[in-house]
Amino acid sequence: MKNYFSSNFKLGVLGGGQLGRMLLTETQKFDIYTCILDKDANAPCSKICEEFHQGDLMDFNTVYNFGKQVDILTIEIEHVNVDALFKLQEEGLKVYPQPEVLQIIQHKGKQKDFFNKHNIATAPYQRFETSSLIGKDNSFPMVWKSAQFGYDGTGVKVIKSANDLQDLPDTECITEQLIPFKNELAVIVARNAQGETKTYPVVEMEFHPEANQVEYVICPARIDDNIAKKAQKMALSVAEAFNHVGLLAVEMFQTEEDDILVNEVAPRTHNSGHYSIEASYTSQFEQHLRSILNLPLGNTDSKVAGVMVNLVGAEGYSGAVVYHGMESILNIAGVSPHIYGKKDTRPFRKMGHVTVVHQDMNEARQIAEKVKQTIKVISR
Ligand SMILES: Nc1ncnc2c1ncn2[C@@H]1O[C@H](COP(=O)(O)OP(=O)(O)OP(=O)(O)O)[C@@H](O)[C@H]1O
Ligand SMILES: [Mg+2]
Repeated sequence: MKNYFSSNFKLGVLGGGQLGRMLLTETQKFDIYTCILDKDANAPCSKICEEFHQGDLMDFNTVYNFGKQVDILTIEIEHVNVDALFKLQEEGLKVYPQPEVLQIIQHKGKQKDFFNKHNIATAPYQRFETSSLIGKDNSFPMVWKSAQFGYDGTGVKVIKSANDLQDLPDTECITEQLIPFKNELAVIVARNAQGETKTYPVVEMEFHPEANQVEYVICPARIDDNIAKKAQKMALSVAEAFNHVGLLAVEMFQTEEDDILVNEVAPRTHNSGHYSIEASYTSQFEQHLRSILNLPLGNTDSKVAGVMVNLVGAEGYSGAVVYHGMESILNIAGVSPHIYGKKDTRPFRKMGHVTVVHQDMNEARQIAEKVKQTIKVISR
């Protein structure tokens, strides 16, 4: 086996967005030669990795040929050609997360079936070949989700009545019972090839009251200890059920009755773990590297309370981006902005985030609100 800490080891990453970019900070720390594949020549990783390859992540030959040039292959986005990954794995390449896992997670219907099969509590659902097959006699409201290629809620709609059914795109989909949850929580689990696991603390996703977008990610979640333990246990059992290698982010609902339901999982570093760069002993990005390289996992405890604010493009602005208000937030102790390096802004596009750390959670949460009000992501 190759030594990772040597000049002849190459790591390959499918996807060159912000998650890849933050991973590169850690590959540089460990001096790991990293090759990135992305279809966009200006992707956030394009100028800062050892090798940038431009190509389509869904194309068999592009992914296969890229994989042939590296020693371990990982992803920063799950929408990739899994057939190519299966072939590479057959030919002896280590692919983490494994193609078997990606194949299930890529498809919301298969993912829900997997939860059911493994007795992982989740909202009741139905699968449909196409939206027009959804019966009008269903109980409403319900949640419609496209089976594939949704992200940041783009493939999710709340259906209030049978009338709303006619506006749905004709794609394979699932419908779910609408859960009136108290909280949305997430837990990141790290698992390496030897089966060593570590769980990060439970985070809470606080939503904007009107716009249906996560506004703050709060660590630790302001919930009861026993609920937190239940959520962590649940997340761990999901990672074990998948036999997953790498990071697995488990999104959950805390119901009115304090039950925990798994909403969905992401087989990678995740928005809900960005706080860890500043607040944890081991950031999620370093932990992902440790997991896929089968190294000992790092301490997942937090050093301080952390609140993350997503920086998304303001409504009404598209084009070359400019960030307003950076100087004023940099004046506040414990505030660290991260800008993803995307050239153009669009309404609600994830352009960056800001982490606020503080010994006191309430202080951190208040500063986060100030940050949110101060920064504007607009076009020039
Ligand atoms: N069954 C449900 N009941 C109530 N709300 C739901 C349900 N399913 C999803 N939602 C809401 O819709 C949001 C997006 O759903 P989901 O996480 O499944 O989709 P997604 O496209 O993967 O989104 P993202 O990329 O933002 O994680 C959830 O975070 C939650 O707020
Ligand atoms: Mg989600």
